[in-house]
Amino acid sequence: MCGIVGYTGHRQAYPVILKGLKRLEYRGYDSSGVALLHNQNLQVHKKKGKVADLEETLIGKNLEAQIGIGHTRWATHGEPSDRNAHPHLSSGGEIAMIHNGIIENYALIKQELVNKGYSFTSDTDTEVLLNFIEDIKKNNECSLEDAVRIALKRVTGAYCILLIEQSNPDTIIAARKGSPLVIGIGKGEHFLASDASPIIEYTKEVVYVNDYELAIVKPDELILKNLGNEKITPFITKLDMELAAIEKGGYEHFMLKEIFEQPNTIFDCLRGRLDAKEGMIRMSGVDLNIEAINKANRIMIVACGTSWHAGLVAEYIIEELCRIPVEVEYASEFRYRNPIIHPGDIIIAISQSGETADTLVALEKAKEKGAFIFGVVNAVGSSIARISNAGAYTHAGPEIGVASTKAFTGQLAVLMMVALNIAINKGTITQERYKELLVELEAVPEKAQAILKNANELKVIAEKYKDAHDFLFLGRGYNFPIALEGALKLKEISYIHAEGYPAAEMKHGPIALVDENLPVVFIATQDVYHEKIVSNMQEIKARKGKIISIITEGDKTSPTLSDDCFSIPPADEIIAPILSVIPLQLLSYYVGIAKGTDVDKPRNLAKSVTVE
Ligand code: F6R
Repeated sequence: MCGIVGYTGHRQAYPVILKGLKRLEYRGYDSSGVALLHNQNLQVHKKKGKVADLEETLIGKNLEAQIGIGHTRWATHGEPSDRNAHPHLSSGGEIAMIHNGIIENYALIKQELVNKGYSFTSDTDTEVLLNFIEDIKKNNECSLEDAVRIALKRVTGAYCILLIEQSNPDTIIAARKGSPLVIGIGKGEHFLASDASPIIEYTKEVVYVNDYELAIVKPDELILKNLGNEKITPFITKLDMELAAIEKGGYEHFMLKEIFEQPNTIFDCLRGRLDAKEGMIRMSGVDLNIEAINKANRIMIVACGTSWHAGLVAEYIIEELCRIPVEVEYASEFRYRNPIIHPGDIIIAISQSGETADTLVALEKAKEKGAFIFGVVNAVGSSIARISNAGAYTHAGPEIGVASTKAFTGQLAVLMMVALNIAINKGTITQERYKELLVELEAVPEKAQAILKNANELKVIAEKYKDAHDFLFLGRGYNFPIALEGALKLKEISYIHAEGYPAAEMKHGPIALVDENLPVVFIATQDVYHEKIVSNMQEIKARKGKIISIITEGDKTSPTLSDDCFSIPPADEIIAPILSVIPLQLLSYYVGIAKGTDVDKPRNLAKSVTVE
């Protein structure tokens, strides 16, 4: 939520910041802005809309500066508008600031400032924090760095802030709590950003700033301190990411590119871990902690959105293979109730971004109570990865399309390996079944490729149903969470209302929706429920609903009941969800395209939800 970029060095700051904002636009795209400092002249430009709108307004302007900050916003306080866009300027006009996060006690601070005669030009909590900092600086006659430190001790909430001031020609002050900040280290230059994507073009050496740390960043110097003003030695990490991974590579949209990358990303996820020939899985995160895992009386899975759906699939698989009870929790609910957690409980945290605020806070609470956190995370070095006691990365590479696709199949692949690893260690699976499933899992990338070859069939189906007002997605067993995921994808990308249900539950209510205008998508691959789901199709057909079914190649029955079918290669029912979701991702993509939506940046959404 909100992307921030900063630069100080020998280059022109504006092009670096602009390119960085475009890379971070997936984090929010309600408005954007830049502040540039040159010869004590602090200029701020901001604009409602996408980064391209800002860029257009700045054509022909003198933007000379070697230091600057930029922001792309996902609105929290105040509607998307020029006025609420960041950067904000302090009342005195000498300090500019950008902010990602929410200041929870802003109303109280604002009232104090209003009483002192401050007035505000925006509705944002950011402007309140900025004027609070300015007020402290004036009253204490201290440096900006000291004022920031004093102010942050009083604020509650989440923030990553970057500030520049007129009187300080080359220094950016930055601080974070709860919202991410990465600093890239170049030769005589530093880059600051919400994630590494704006940085990798220039340097691979980065420092991930931790909560409650403050950075004083000059072209030749990076000083990290805690809020107690003690210096901290920056820990430099080498980025393992290539520029090509964050570019479209000839695809029209990131979402399509990411869907088509899945044979490779799933392969990368399995590589080095799964060896079907040897009949083994090596996952150090599980292997090194196997005793703790084996002792667990239950596993809790905490996540949001698509990652929560991956958790639901994992629930079915872990209970089946490992015979450990599993509870899947929405992180946003888990964090506010008083969940019963015993020391030694295992929590699997699933997150693409590794920065989702609800998940992060839920984990902090569980960790305090003694839970063991196992992270299934995509973004390397992210906050959730760092808070986890152990884990396994999904290795899907940067996911830029706002709707999650390749991260989801990566999560499923990791969770399946985790379940198989635990099961073989616990002895809850036979060697024969274990080996059979390893072979099945190893075959997934090739089968995913076969599905993608037929993508055009889904384009045709999408065209046919694009004008529907509602969709129903039905699945049973391992494919029930896939029905939820299919519905979520369609809602996000096409703005068509969609519901996912367990197919048998449909007759307890949703069946009332069925008429000749309702497309019903069945995930009806071959499994133990197949006959049952065929009966559910009959029930829809009898009520004239339109049936689109995702079936296994060779299924002779389902096509006779369906208006449209898409076949996927045969796969074991435990493995099938990684494959059955791919046609649903494509269906949403093509419906979105047919309706003319902005599929990479659907309205109101942002990737990486760092506010609660
Ligand atoms: C849906 C989607 C979201 C995320 C959710 C959790 O396409 O992307 O529902 O899955 O916001 O995000 P992460 O996985 O980053 O914690």
